[in-house]
Amino acid sequence: PVSSLLELGGVAIGKHDVVRDDPTNNVPDSIFSKLGMQLHQRDNHPLGILKNEIYNYFDTNYSNKFTKFDDLSPIVSVKENFDDVLVPEDHVSRSYNDTYYIDSQTVLRCHTSAHQAELLRRGYTQFLVTGDVYRRDSIDSTHYPVFHQMEGVRVFSLNDWEASGTDGTSFAADDLKKCLEGLARHLFGAVEMRWVDTYFPFTNPSFELEIFFQEKWLEVLGCGVMEQEILKRSDKENNVAWAFGLGLERLAMVLFDIPDIRLFWSADERFTTQFSKGKLGVKFKSFSKFPPCYKDISFWINDSFTENNLCEVVRGVAGDLVEEVQLIDSFTNKKKGMTSHCYRIAYRSMERSLTDEEINDLQWNVREQVQSKLNVVLR
Ligand code: PHE
Repeated sequence: PVSSLLELGGVAIGKHDVVRDDPTNNVPDSIFSKLGMQLHQRDNHPLGILKNEIYNYFDTNYSNKFTKFDDLSPIVSVKENFDDVLVPEDHVSRSYNDTYYIDSQTVLRCHTSAHQAELLRRGYTQFLVTGDVYRRDSIDSTHYPVFHQMEGVRVFSLNDWEASGTDGTSFAADDLKKCLEGLARHLFGAVEMRWVDTYFPFTNPSFELEIFFQEKWLEVLGCGVMEQEILKRSDKENNVAWAFGLGLERLAMVLFDIPDIRLFWSADERFTTQFSKGKLGVKFKSFSKFPPCYKDISFWINDSFTENNLCEVVRGVAGDLVEEVQLIDSFTNKKKGMTSHCYRIAYRSMERSLTDEEINDLQWNVREQVQSKLNVVLR
């Protein structure tokens, strides 16, 4: 159902050609409407400012050798998003609960790694890919179903590591760490950092970089030495490569002091006018914090209930007025064999005070839709 990706309104995502009537489609309008927003292409937006600053780092240190992509379509095949980067058949990230499917073979990319294999096949050996990525998730101030990542890949050949006296893998891992430590210092100044071993299906070894910021260790990116199988499939079996993927919102929230991830989507001038091209790290001044309003909802769950589904229903009703959905109580009635959950929903606008009436309406609609869409029994 996804036809060729036409250039539409300057945005090469082919969104208007996408048919979403497949029975497996789980992309609601609220998410689909985000396609083509291209926040990362706006020079005066915190995400665009951060992207450009990372570009500067690579341009300066690698004499403009990295090719940059920031308009690849977020609509990709299951093969590109998962198979090509060796995500196992039974990995949770493939589930309809975690990923947005347009049809059984087409998804909204859940990471920019979806473009690694194709770009390697097209012959690129040093590149950066920036774009919007989509994940079904729970709701709080640092999670939003659409966010932005930047992927980086660098391929080496025997010439590069031969003289070093080490093998290709160690050479690539050392180069990767040096590159990313330099990037972290470029963005954050003299910060304390540490490397943590981790697992990704597409890299081995795999690492996370954490920086010590405001008294906390903050995970800023995932990376590693690319699995040889990925290179082999792109006719590069004699090469080694590294790859990293970093979340732009995560970094921008810290660098600009932005307290809530929903603000990145705000068109309120009190937000948008605070940032300008080339000015990394200007601290955001809250235009006042409006009071939150809490509403609880309790129901007997069924076997197919998931928190992600609940959050999508709440987001579908309340949009960006919902700040957090939190499980506050759960108990099982052994006799009935039924489990009850109680969730607390925090409603708060970033831009204005909400009226009681408005919140009661939202909560009423949430109750109705939770019941009808999730087939649970309200208590
Ligand atoms: N794709 C990973 C993620 O979204 C990040 C990553 C990219 C890790 C490249 C390793 C190499 O979490």
